Amino acid sequence: MNVDEALRARRSVKHFDPAVVIDDDTLRELIRPVLYTPTSFNLQHWRFVLVRDSARKSELCRAAFNQVQVRDASLVALIVGKLDAHTDAARVWQGAPDRVQASMRRTIDALYAGDAGLQRDEAVRSGAMASMALLLRATEMGFATCPLIGFDDAEVRRVLGIPADYVSALLICVGRAVAEPHPRVGRFGLDEVVRLEHFDGVPLADIP
Ligand SMILES: Cc1cc2nc3c(=O)[nH]c(=O)nc-3n(C[C@H](O)[C@H](O)[C@H](O)COP(=O)(O)O)c2cc1C
Repeated sequence: MNVDEALRARRSVKHFDPAVVIDDDTLRELIRPVLYTPTSFNLQHWRFVLVRDSARKSELCRAAFNQVQVRDASLVALIVGKLDAHTDAARVWQGAPDRVQASMRRTIDALYAGDAGLQRDEAVRSGAMASMALLLRATEMGFATCPLIGFDDAEVRRVLGIPADYVSALLICVGRAVAEPHPRVGRFGLDEVVRLEHFDGVPLADIP
């Protein structure tokens, strides 16, 4: 399956086979390539909390307003972003030439240290990028997925012990589908969502 096929095949599945178990090796295969997801200044804000335990999934299901895919999926992943990831600058640039390290540390600090809004944007942005990579990788591996933000964040954080300096990006269910999703509805065309050169520019016409 190539990327184009994975993008078109991925759907948000609501009904999973609860008997399917995803083992640790499969988790590694699933997540490892996701760690190549790009992040601003290589800060790698994302962290993945992977839940397979039935009781914990049931707790998360209640926190997600009883959306049954959270209970029945083989894996429920919470992707969070580290708000103060800029403090990792020295670590992530270790190994680069000294001059590059020093310049990166200065630039990263100047950009993020005093700007809580940008820290949060970046943490969510990185988490969202990694989430999409995870959806595609799972699709390639033959799994069905469902991304979710329909949950009580405080309750999910309590259940999973998420510290205050991490922001939730998405919850992602992964498993084997037992029912087809509804046919796709309401996808906007190229001509509605793409403009050339300027926001008010010429639309990129769809081929009829
Ligand atoms: C940020 C985000 C939040 C979502 N939240 C939920 C959710 O809480 N429950 C759910 O069933 N689907 C959720 N979805 C799935 C969307 O409903 C779905 O992507 C959209 O309807 C398009 O359908 P498709 O993914 O099958 O193409 C969410 C998707 C995204 C990207």
